[in-house]
Parts: sequence; C-alpha cells; structure tokens
Amino acid sequence: MARHARSRPMVATMNEMKNDLLYLRPNVQVEPLFDNWYAWSHLIPPATAARNLTERHLKRMDSYINAPQVHASAVKNAKLIGGPFVDHGGKRVDEIRLLRDRTQQQRPHLIELSDAIGALDEMLRTKAKGFALQPLYEMVPDILRGYVELGYDLNNNPSFRIIEPLLYKSRYYYRSAQSLMLSVVTGDQRPFVLSTPRLESDSLFHLRAPFDDEVVDLLFRLKSCPRPWGEIKEMLRAPEASEPLVRSFFTPEAPLPYTPYKGDGVRWRYFGHACVLVETRNLSVLFDPMLSYSYESEVPRYTYMDLPESIDYVVITHNHQDHMLFETLLQVRHKAKHIVVPSCSGGSLQDPSMKLIFENIGCRNVIELRQMESLNVENGSITALPFLGEHADLNMHSKTAYLIRLGNHSMIFAADSCNIEPRLYEHIHDEVGDVDTIFLGMECDGAPLTWLYGALLTRSIERAMDESRRLSGSNFDQAIDIVRRFNFKSVYVYAMGQEPWLGYIMGLKYTDQSRPIVESNRLIRQCLDEGVNAERLFGHKEVLIEELSCKPRAPSSAVGVG
Ligand SMILES: [Fe+2]
Ligand SMILES: [Fe+2]
Repeated sequence: MARHARSRPMVATMNEMKNDLLYLRPNVQVEPLFDNWYAWSHLIPPATAARNLTERHLKRMDSYINAPQVHASAVKNAKLIGGPFVDHGGKRVDEIRLLRDRTQQQRPHLIELSDAIGALDEMLRTKAKGFALQPLYEMVPDILRGYVELGYDLNNNPSFRIIEPLLYKSRYYYRSAQSLMLSVVTGDQRPFVLSTPRLESDSLFHLRAPFDDEVVDLLFRLKSCPRPWGEIKEMLRAPEASEPLVRSFFTPEAPLPYTPYKGDGVRWRYFGHACVLVETRNLSVLFDPMLSYSYESEVPRYTYMDLPESIDYVVITHNHQDHMLFETLLQVRHKAKHIVVPSCSGGSLQDPSMKLIFENIGCRNVIELRQMESLNVENGSITALPFLGEHADLNMHSKTAYLIRLGNHSMIFAADSCNIEPRLYEHIHDEVGDVDTIFLGMECDGAPLTWLYGALLTRSIERAMDESRRLSGSNFDQAIDIVRRFNFKSVYVYAMGQEPWLGYIMGLKYTDQSRPIVESNRLIRQCLDEGVNAERLFGHKEVLIEELSCKPRAPSSAVGVG
C-alpha cells in the first residue's frame, strides 16, 4: 500500500549522533539547474541550450528587470500558470540583474552559437533555392562550419542537420552551467519551476557539480546506504557556513527496506503522471520516472522509497519535461542498469538525440529503439510502437509508445500518443494483435507550439498558426478508436498533472469542465458500457496479474543487450 511517508520514531544520544552513519532524508529536494534555471532536456544539447539561453532565459530576465510588477501580478492569475512569468513577487530585481550579467559574461560561446543558428537559417532561406548546396558551405557562419550538413527535402526545402556528437565535444557544451540545488520539501505546494530562475537563499545548498559528476550518484546512494558525516561533508564540499544546513539534510534513521515482488505473475504500480513500475520476480521496468518525495500528505502515493535497489530498464517515451524529468532521473541513475529511449531524426535542431543527452549527463547503457524494434527482456520483450502527434506538427522522431510483453501478459504504454491517423493502429494491430492493457494520456488541450519550442524558432510565427499547432494528446474519439482496435481488457488514463505534487512541472489546474477531464470521463464511461475495465488514475494504484503461463512469441526484430 502507498504510504504518506516512511519514517519511524528515533531517539538517539548526542554520542550516537556524532558517530552515526547518516542517510539522505527522503524529503530532500534536489533540483537540477542550468545557470540557475531549472534544467530540462533542451538545456543539455549545445544548440538547443544556446537558443533557450538567448531566447528564453536572457529575454525573460530582461523583461523582469524592466517590469517586475507585471510579472508579479501575472503569476497571481491562475489562468496564467505555466506562462512566461518570473515568480519572485516583483522583488529581488538586483539578483536577477546579476544573474543575467553573469550569464552574458560566462556564456559568450552559447550566445554566439544561438546567433549563428539564426544566421544559418536566414542564409538558407535566402540562398538555397534548389541548386547545389556546396557553394553555400562557405556562407555557413564560421563557428558552425564542420558542425552542420546542409540538405534539401525532395521539394527543395533547405535545412541543416547538426553533427551532435561533435558539438558536445566542443566549447559549446558547458558542463559548468550544471548544478544541483538542495533543500527540504515538506508539502505538495511547490511553485512552477520552468519560468523562474532559482536564486540563492539560506535554506538552499547549491552543489556546484555537473550532472555526470560521481558526487551525484554518491549523494543519492545515501538514501539507502549510509555514510559517516565527515565523509559526506567532504564529498559535498560544504563550506563551513553551510554545514548546519547540509547536516540537516541527513538522518541516522534508516528507511524501511523495499520489498521486491516475489510472485509468479506481474505487479505494476502507478507512481503518478505517466510513471509506472512493472515488476516480475526477475525483472523491473520503470516507465517515465517522475517521483514524489516522502512527506506527510493527504494523498497517499508511492515515492522514491518504493523503488527497487536496482532497476533493469528505465524506459522513456518522449522528450517532454514531464516524461524525461532530470530531477527524478538523476536520483534513479545509479539504480538503472539500462535506459531505453526512442531514436531521433539525426541532428535536426528540434529533435536532439535523447541517447546523447543521457550519455552526456552521465548515464551508461543507453539503448535506442527504432519504431517497431524490440528488445528481449527476461521472459518477454519491449517493443517501440510509433507515436504520432503531440509535438505541434514538428518533424520529430524521438517519441515512442511501448508494448511490453511478459509471459502471456501484454501492456501498451502510449504516453501522449495522439491518434491523428487511426490507420496507424490498424497496421500496428495487424502486427502485434490484441493487447491486455493500455495506459494513455488524454491531454487534448495541449499548449501551442511556442510554449515549448518557441526558443528554437528563428522567425516569429503567426499567432493563428501557433494556436493551431498544439502539444495535444488524444481526445475521446481518438482514444476510443485505439481502445476498440486492440480489444484491451483494461484501460488506464493517466491523471494528466492532477496529482497535487506535480504542479511544479505541469503548471496545469483542471476543473470538471476542462476538456481533458470531460473527454477522459467519456472514454471511461464508454469503456465500462462496452465491458472494458477502465479508470482515470490518480495518486497511486497497484495491480497484480497472478500468473504468467506461457512465453511470448519472439519479436521479429529483436536487439540483444549485454
Ligand atoms: Fe508530451
Ligand atoms: Fe505528457
């Protein structure tokens, strides 16, 4: 059963305290930052980081410095949650100015890279008219030469692809921009993090270490493997003045040990949003990790403390910040034996390689799956299924749904797949047959293109165009079509950001009248009418499938993993 918090009373003498081995408390929040901005996946690849730095961070800080009160009142407006407003109550302007100036001084290469991307786009628009591209290479901004290849599509529309692995090795990849901010979290109320830079304060400890630093894994291992205070202090490089604060993040109190699943079937547990842990006796697979810290709350949930010591596969559906969340991923990295991600389109600005992102933040054994490619796992397989839509019609490949077969049981994790072309599912069904269970998001009122990808555009887009191109998941008609094609026995709709601890990253507040709620209610009613088990998940859930009787058929194009 999910718990509010895992703790037990503890009384210790001063002497015991001094010599005790200490654990990282389960309610220590560790925010990954990029130059004090909450780090999400586009802040890792140099090209997308550069565009976000100039078009989002610097512009937003300028705007706040010029009109802090406009931001302060916008933040109070519930309809504008998740909007481009800095949430510092109209105060701390000098600190924001300092951060802006420091960013400009310390990241000149990123600023020039962002400008060069704009210039390259402009050059291609004006010069590439369908004739040979080779003469244009000398017009590529100098700093990008050797890092891009120019090309046309079959209709002579020009574009460029970035040689991403080389750009990561260049001066444009700033590991030094990455750091971690530690603090104690005591409740679900946590402000939206993507619009507001984090500023230093007495209750925060800023650990200036890049994400691939070994200190990151050492820190999170302390949740279950205690170390003496002297060692911890040294490891975290805590200055003397911060020692009392840093010491307060640790406790001699051991967490309750995790009990792995020992049955003969499958157990799955819903952790909130799109995060589900699937376990058999010999296998654990965690989809789209997004975990709550442990503290007292009225909404029971599974937390970080309900994860196994080792996870065989951490599986990511797509490159949106609510599915590829560094705050959780860095905390589970040391547990993950493999990370499974979709393949990408190969160098387009909007579609950076997820494999390279993970590798550059220090993850090992990252496996890329192409569409319809399978991975053999203990007594089963994981197959990448095509995922259409939900990316504002940008040409994007790094998104996939997954079919997992374990013995004779099968589940599809469709995440935000939008059924914009029902014939796709006809073809998939022809290939994979009926499936037992589906997990599906139905955020059918998604944000417009510019909300997530605006910084990558080098020309402004018409408002009507922007409004028409959204990050929307399936509505009722699209979802019921998927459900009927696969004859699912069970249909689970994700809570779509309604778990109270997810406001900081989702920035969503639905009412009973919100379309995703109305449409998913309709889906659930319709499924129940048709004899299909269905519910919208919220908070936590555990389901046991008692027995796995036979081995699945071998996938047609399986990749092996060492
Ligand atoms: Fe998404
Ligand atoms: Fe999502």
